[in-house]
Amino acid sequence: MIALGADHGGYRLKEAVKAYLEEKGIPYKDFGTDSEESVNYGPYAYRVAQSIVSGECEKGVLCCGTGIGISIAANKVKGIRAAVCTNEFCAEMTRRHNDANILAMGGRVIDEKTAVKLADIFLNTPFEGGRHLERIQQIAAIENGEKL
Ligand code: RB5
Repeated sequence: MIALGADHGGYRLKEAVKAYLEEKGIPYKDFGTDSEESVNYGPYAYRVAQSIVSGECEKGVLCCGTGIGISIAANKVKGIRAAVCTNEFCAEMTRRHNDANILAMGGRVIDEKTAVKLADIFLNTPFEGGRHLERIQQIAAIENGEKL
């Protein structure tokens, strides 16, 4: 299950990703927002992030104007690694190296076609593990208040 969320600035990208998931027959849960009417991104980031750490959803896609605010909010939830991506290389590498569980994108930065391409790459690229596992574990250690 893929979790989707956006504010007004990312609404159109979210809808484009949703259409892609429907076309591919990939199950998703849309946490809103449902229009381009102005809303705060925090609740959408929170709901998508919670659905992932609870195990309800496997990965998420969050969109706002830049992808930045909504990713910062999502990254406050323990266990979330949300990455803002603007190109295919970053979408691939954040899965391979960072094991990112949320792709964040900006509706004022990239177009719908690019967003769908980045989502496709993100959702189909595995984590490499190996030397990157220790790095992910260090991120978790920081979350747990440990000293590095
Ligand atoms: C909303 O105007 C805008 O600030 C928001 O979508 C996002 O870009 C914040 O980072």
